[in-house]
Order: sequence, then C-alpha cells, then structure tokens
Amino acid sequence: MADKVVLAYSGGVDTSAAIPWLKEKYGFDVITLCLDVGNEKDFSLVEDKAIKAGAVKSLVMDIKDIFTRYFIFPALQADALYEGQYPLATALSRPLMAKMLVDVARQEGAVAVAHGCTGKGNDQVRFDVSVMALAPDLKIIAPAREWGMTREETISYALSKGIPLPVTKKSPFSIDENIWGRSIECGVLEDPWVEPPEEVFAWTKPVNKTPEKSRYLEIGFEKGVPVSLDGKDMDGTSLIIEMNKIVGEHGIGRIDHIENRLVGIKSREVYEAPAATALLKAHLALEALNLSKQQMRFKEKVASEYADMIYNGLWFTSFHQDMAAYVQSSQRHISGVIKLKLWKGNCVVVGRKSPKSLYNFSLATYDKGDVFDQRDSPGFIHIWGLPVKVQAQAQLLTQAEGPMSIPPGVVKQLKD
Ligand code: ARG
Repeated sequence: MADKVVLAYSGGVDTSAAIPWLKEKYGFDVITLCLDVGNEKDFSLVEDKAIKAGAVKSLVMDIKDIFTRYFIFPALQADALYEGQYPLATALSRPLMAKMLVDVARQEGAVAVAHGCTGKGNDQVRFDVSVMALAPDLKIIAPAREWGMTREETISYALSKGIPLPVTKKSPFSIDENIWGRSIECGVLEDPWVEPPEEVFAWTKPVNKTPEKSRYLEIGFEKGVPVSLDGKDMDGTSLIIEMNKIVGEHGIGRIDHIENRLVGIKSREVYEAPAATALLKAHLALEALNLSKQQMRFKEKVASEYADMIYNGLWFTSFHQDMAAYVQSSQRHISGVIKLKLWKGNCVVVGRKSPKSLYNFSLATYDKGDVFDQRDSPGFIHIWGLPVKVQAQAQLLTQAEGPMSIPPGVVKQLKD
C-alpha cells in the first residue's frame, strides 16, 4: 500500500495539478482537504473535482467558527494590524489550515502534508513553520515550489491528466479570501502607480454608489470580543459576515498597501476588509475608554509585535503564548458598546459607553459639578517642569540648535 499525503486543496489549477503530480513524483496516495474559512465557493463541486483529479479521498470541512474564535478574535483583541494597514486575513488562516492538515494526517496515518504555495510568498512560510511546530516528523511538500512549471505549463499538465478546468476566462488577479478579508494581487496591480481598477473589488462599493444616508451601527463587546450588533446578540462568525455586508455597502474597508514580505520582497497588496476595519476601530475606541494611559501605551507596542508574529508565521510558538497571556489579561474590562457612523467611505466612532469606563464626568467637565481642584496644578507643574528648568539653565539657552534655535532677528521683525 502506498504512503499517504494530505493536500490542502482549493479546487484551483495548482492544487488540482498537484494531485497527479504527487502521485507520479512521490508515489503517494493523495487525500485532499478543502477548508471553508468563508471563501465564497461551491464546496460540493470542489469535493467531486478532487476525486476526478485522482484523489483517493476528498474531505471538506467548515472551519469558520474555529477560525473566528481561536484566530480572528484573539487578533482583534490584540489590535493586530500589519504595518498599520493589513488586518491579516490570509496570514491568520494559514496556521489553522496547517493544524487541520496535521490533524487529518494523524487520523489517516499519512506521512506527509502538502500545500499549493509558491516559493515567493509568505504563505509557504506560515504553512511550513506551523507544521514544523505541530508535527516535526511529517514531511512537507509544496508542489508549486518544486515543479518549476509556468502557469501555462501547469494548465497543459492538468489538462493532459484529464483534470476538468473552469472554462471561464481566467482572471488576471490572484485572490485569497476568508471572512476576515479579501486579498487581491497580480495583473495591473503589480504597477504601484496604477490605481486598482473597480473590477478587483467585490465586497465594497465605490463611494459614488454608496447610500446617500449615513448608517449608525452599535457594536457590543464582552471582554474585547464583539457579541452584538445594534443590540442583537450574534455568534462571532455571523456577526463578521453581517458586518462585511453593512460596512462594505458604505464603501469602507479598501486598503492599498506596499507591504514588506517576510521573504524580502516589497509587494503591492490590495485588500477589502470591511468588517475587520470597522471592528478594529471600534475595539480600539473601547480600549481608549477603559484602559489606563500606561496600559494603552504598552498594548500599542504589543499590537505591533503581535501583528509581526502572525504575519511571519510564528503562531504556534512560546512567544505567541506569552503575548497572548498579556492580551487576554488586558481585555478583562473591555466590555461596552461603541457607536459607529458609516458614510461615504468613512467609518467614524461617534459614541461609546461602558460600565467599566474610566471617563469621569466630574473630573472632565468645565461646567457645574467640577471636582477637579485647580489649585493643585501649579505644584504639580512645578515638579513636572523642574528638570526642564534645571537643564535649560545649564545647557539649552547657550547651545540651542535645530528647530528651537529661532534666529533673534525673526522675533524682532515680528515686533516691528
Ligand atoms: N500579502 C498577504 C499575506 O501575505 C496575502 C497573500 C495571499 N494573497 C493572494 N492573493 N494569494 O498575508
């Protein structure tokens, strides 16, 4: 009996061609695993397609809820946004897919796992490093990284093996999508000067087609996790799917990013992430209300580390475990409601409330009821400014350089 390999299968040209290729090159029996993370496709067709391409077994699993609960929401709680722009949809899905590959490989007694990534991207790193962490004994094969075929050659190879390919005109774009966002690469987008053509967008309306009337949206959070929309409780996956519709309708969530890949390449990435954009904004707004200044300053640093960790394929590491412990702890009072206003491509926080709010009206108000004693301020400022005064007297007045060294003539001219 032949050894088995479990192949992460999308139903596309590359992973379909990989089925006969794995059989020919390595003599494997191929089990395909198609994972539904919210990519809009007909999974029943995919299941059948794998068998037609020569798989001995074809599995399809809906893993959206696991994805939401164990990957998306922890990243949201961490405010993870790669390079301040990319909500990490693709990057978050890869470690989960690797975990599923490993689990199925164990169940089926396979000796190897395989995926369709090329040798130029981040995804190969995320798959491989995750499998190395979870099952160091399993062999990892990436056919598209090994076979050295061009796109055209891959298509002729697949056709020669009798694999049915879609007859529809091939899109010039490479697209990856899941409920947290949609990524579009290739074609004209490879010129960073070219504006993304309208046809690349599927989840967001262009601003000239969005409703004239603004839409308010109230998001309820419980310990940093969104649990309701406009007062209605919802499970996480449905909430994200619903928000993609509502927020995308108003033209919000388009991202155009020159991104630093882990493999050293700068690439132009276009994303649509309506729900992620709005949820990250709302979550930060609630943290602004309920975390102390020091907690916020520190969490900002963790957020950037957390995003890099996800992007760079280090999900299954002790480093992540340590950061996750901090993030979880930081979320224990992040419960409340954020009110967003969606209008013409803009998503603005216009209201916030929480039983654990640190906003104190009696301290903030300039009206009646003010309890802040202004007589305390001069003493506080005296001590706060003391080192500034001491240093200015000893050094600054004689040696000021740069932006502070306004030439004496300027002040004189103003007086004249
Ligand atoms: N640049 C993104 C990342 O590294 C998305 C990559 C996948 N996109 C694609 N069109 N295949 O996470």
